[in-house]
Amino acid sequence: MQKLTIAIDGPAGSGKSSLARRVASMLGYLYMDSGAMYRAVALKALRRRVPLNDEQALSTIARETHVELKRPSPEQEAAGAKNCVFLDGVEVTDEIRTEEVAQAASRLATIQEVREVLVAEQQRAGAGGGIVMEGRDIGTVVFPDAELKIFLDASPEVRAQRRWKEHQEKGDKISLQEVVEEVRERDRRDRERKVSPLVRAADAVLVDNTAMGIDETARIIVMLVKERDATAAKAGRTA
Ligand code: CDP
Ligand code: CDP
Repeated sequence: MQKLTIAIDGPAGSGKSSLARRVASMLGYLYMDSGAMYRAVALKALRRRVPLNDEQALSTIARETHVELKRPSPEQEAAGAKNCVFLDGVEVTDEIRTEEVAQAASRLATIQEVREVLVAEQQRAGAGGGIVMEGRDIGTVVFPDAELKIFLDASPEVRAQRRWKEHQEKGDKISLQEVVEEVRERDRRDRERKVSPLVRAADAVLVDNTAMGIDETARIIVMLVKERDATAAKAGRTA
């Protein structure tokens, strides 16, 4: 079977990371969480107290930062870790999963120069194919020629509930209402920004998983992969 590039985009809490990770493991593909890169750069900016409207300083930070995503150990995977994230060589896997970092990430993600640096990294990482990459602009900007593009969605209430449940499990003190507001604000910023806004690529398959579990959704994606593969094989035979 040919190794495809699979792009999964969608709003916060739609299930992208869980789905991408599951599909990658079912197919033996690499998995990459592009949002973790924006979050890691945002964490560095917050730690340095760089104002989030200082585009020049934030672009410099993005250029000078080394973010590495590594596959978690089987134990970390069992505990729910998706990618292990290293910021300039130091692990920040848990530190980037706060609402403060998420908000800062979505603010610096509006800056063209920051996006250029991170998109170039993502393109390098996925150049060989056999990868499931998820984010906001994977099917539109990072891999516009991906063989399979999914736009994953779920109702805003369900997405906020899912995020809140994760916070509850970690013991974070945040109310459901606060998470609803956070997700709403980030959705709006991500969809309305001028550079690479969150939009469904014209050739992306829309999958609404409001009422679907991760396994069920992953099986649908793998079916789509097999279908694309069969079509490619048939085209190859007739060429
Ligand atoms: O990456 P994204 O923000 O799109 O979502 P995620 O981190 O994959 O999923 C957020 C939470 O929703 C996780 O705790 C998932 O286990 C959960 N989830 C779910 O309950 N049902 C789904 N169909 C997808 C995700
Ligand atoms: O997990 P969740 O969906 O909540 O967010 P994430 O994927 O970790 O992304 C955090 C923020 O980074 C998003 O709200 C976007 O503003 C930004 N992002 C982006 O602009 N482009 C991407 N390819 C990935 C993330």
